[in-house]
Amino acid sequence: MTLQYDPFDEAIRNDPLPVYKRLRDEAPAYYMEKYDAWALSRFQDIWDALSTDAFSAARGTTPAQLLTKDQPVTPMLNVMDPPSHTQLRSVIRRCFLPKNVRAVEPIARKLVGELLDEAAGRDEFDAIGDFSARLSVTIACIAIGLPIEDGPMLTKLVQRFFHHDPGEEGMTEAGMAALGELSAYCEDMIKARRKQPSAEPAAIDALASFELGGKLFSDADAGSHVSMLVIGGSETFPKVFASGLMRLAEYPDQREQLVQDPTGIPDAFNEILRYDMPTQFLGRTLTRDMEFHGKTLKKDQAVIFLYASANKDDREFDDPDTFDILRRAPRFLSFSAGNHQCLGTHVARMEGKVCFEAFLSRFPEYELDLDRAVRLKTEFVQGFASLPVRNLR
Ligand code: HEM
Repeated sequence: MTLQYDPFDEAIRNDPLPVYKRLRDEAPAYYMEKYDAWALSRFQDIWDALSTDAFSAARGTTPAQLLTKDQPVTPMLNVMDPPSHTQLRSVIRRCFLPKNVRAVEPIARKLVGELLDEAAGRDEFDAIGDFSARLSVTIACIAIGLPIEDGPMLTKLVQRFFHHDPGEEGMTEAGMAALGELSAYCEDMIKARRKQPSAEPAAIDALASFELGGKLFSDADAGSHVSMLVIGGSETFPKVFASGLMRLAEYPDQREQLVQDPTGIPDAFNEILRYDMPTQFLGRTLTRDMEFHGKTLKKDQAVIFLYASANKDDREFDDPDTFDILRRAPRFLSFSAGNHQCLGTHVARMEGKVCFEAFLSRFPEYELDLDRAVRLKTEFVQGFASLPVRNLR
């Protein structure tokens, strides 16, 4: 069968891994005529591409920005290029350093304990809505400098932003409306912060006072930057946690190993991140021509990096389709690489350690109701939107 790849194709959205393997083996630089864009699928190609200066993020990075072009590019750190990206990133980065993360870890542990107390004895609870999403949004609020009590409302907005009904592609009207509401909320928060700076500066204060070329951001632009932090900080972790619960239920011997020896959790979390990366791809636009596998990818064409494919590339990983918590891969692409590498890596790893340690010690024999789980199967994000857990003893 001829190889055809369109990330929006329904069969591919339902099961992208087989086509990723064919792309890696048969067409590692694949041209998508419909979008005048390329797909790179091998680990080393993506790794190398991310470390060159031949790509710009300024025309967007998501499928809805680069392919369907129905999501406008709004001012956010992830769509900036050097030198302004480097300047702003270095300021925001200070709020996500290991020492800041260590300072919030006791808060994370306490919250996780309380949420598991609430779960104990119930017939069922949702690994996302009742647990991991509540943790990630709370920690994101603290790191960004937003009121913790707004967390549940922010989670709903972010979920609406990503929600797709079956068959919907790219960015939906409802998704754009949710992003508008989120940005308006963040703009109000910036205004309030500019009037009354906080005694404990957080990322929102860094954005409120940051000057680019001697000029402050407008309230609206600073608010848009804050909304990116809310989305990045709250959305991905719960999906990774839920897929981890699924894999550990699927491989009970590996689960038992972690129950007996929780010091293996950080390595197991890396394997969970590698094995089921929710974000299928992000992309950039070429600033000059580049050659990949005898093909010339031209200046101004979009290129998507199939991270989820790269993480299963047998040129990089032995037995990539085997889930193995002892793997200890020296590198993977779940946090991307290069100048846009995830700023929340330390936060995400702390959340993974705290959640799995507490959950496995409390409910080592949990069961999942996969028939009633809600899954997102979009061209962009794959993973659980909700995952019912039982046997909470
Ligand atoms: C398991 C959880 C997470 C995963 C898998 C993840 C993954 C990623 C990836 C792949 C990128 C690169 C985007 C690109 O290639 O354009 C990214 C960027 C980013 N992430 Fe995360 N992320 C996670 C959690 C977080 C958290 C908790 C925060 C903040 C609290 C965060 C903040 C950011 C920011 C600010 C960027 C943009 C960096 C830049 O453009 O310079 N992420 N993340």
